[in-house]
Amino acid sequence: MIVTVCLGSSCHVRGSHHVLETLRRLIKDNHLEDKIQMEGAFCMGNCEKGVCVKIDGTLFTFTPETTQELFQKEILSKLS
Ligand code: FES
Repeated sequence: MIVTVCLGSSCHVRGSHHVLETLRRLIKDNHLEDKIQMEGAFCMGNCEKGVCVKIDGTLFTFTPETTQELFQKEILSKLS
């Protein structure tokens, strides 16, 4: 699975750095380093939907507050 976090300026203002750090921690805590490839990207052209996170090419809106929940729902559940 490839998880791409937008690091463009609009998503940055909405907390992309925090989302990225939280995802990294959750991946590590769940020992998923072999299964998930984390990438950063510049503006994905969907700033109004930021923080933009693509999971295997599908765009999702993450916020620092919803990252944990979305990790469970959109990432963890699809790997098991
Ligand atoms: S800055 Fe993230 S989509 Fe534009």
